[in-house]
Amino acid sequence: MARTLDPQLRRALVERVRFCHEMGIYDFYRRDFDRDGPRLSESAENESTAGIVAASSSLPQLELREEMSARKSAVVPSIAEKNTLEIVSSKPESGVADPVAALKLIREDLGDCTRCKLHQLGRQQIVFGVGNPRAELMFVGEGPGADEDAQGEPFVGRAGQLLNNMIKAMGLRREDVYIANIVKCRPPGNRQPERDECDTCSPFLMRQIATVKPKAMVALGATAAKNLLALNAPMAELRGRWYDFKPAGSDPAWPGARLAVTYHPAFLLRDPRQKGEAWKDLQMVMKYLGIEPPKKAAE
Ligand code: URA
Repeated sequence: MARTLDPQLRRALVERVRFCHEMGIYDFYRRDFDRDGPRLSESAENESTAGIVAASSSLPQLELREEMSARKSAVVPSIAEKNTLEIVSSKPESGVADPVAALKLIREDLGDCTRCKLHQLGRQQIVFGVGNPRAELMFVGEGPGADEDAQGEPFVGRAGQLLNNMIKAMGLRREDVYIANIVKCRPPGNRQPERDECDTCSPFLMRQIATVKPKAMVALGATAAKNLLALNAPMAELRGRWYDFKPAGSDPAWPGARLAVTYHPAFLLRDPRQKGEAWKDLQMVMKYLGIEPPKKAAE
């Protein structure tokens, strides 16, 4: 039976949802507590708000119970989708069929982002993402380096040159694919992005993926793979297989992407002997996308 919310609790809930929206999170699901029993004995506030769960792990300070991260829900889509999306107000881009317009709305929602500490650690600009908004193939790297920070575009430095060669070797052009990173601001000294930085940025990346709706994705390196898949495994275990990937709240008509993991181009620059292994990963992707193997293999 439907319960009416105490006005004070409703206000608290609205505030919580508003805060989530500010953080770029729009996907919630409702747990069916009536069947879970124990929840009904919790305090009035818990009873009224615990059923609404943000599909992100980026808000620990809110003590959102039973949270499900965007990344976890991405690999286990059925959980988020089987639950009724009840109090979700729409994302700026929802209902916008044109992915160019939708990506623009996500970029606008991101604004001059100050949501994590990277904004005050020397970044020059936000590096949103680049490429074909309807790409069948999407690459996700770690985060911008100095060149990307200066130019506002992912993978434009030395690692970017190698990524371009890899794309070309696949028989594609850079403009055919979409390229983004786990974090959109340069971590100082090219350090790895930290957990809270990844979590804060992740809802926006999820929305970009849900907009582009690629058929296949390639995680470049362990940081991208571990963040997208919420798995903590070495590269040797992560590579060489497919993962199903579908951000929570994405278009039910889109089956989701298949995600492969390969070495980061910066790693390949340091250890070129691994290029052959990376090429095997890309060949797996090409096969799935039905791309004819080009006559000349990767350099
Ligand atoms: N490395 C990354 O992971 N991303 C970039 O955009 C550039 C280098």
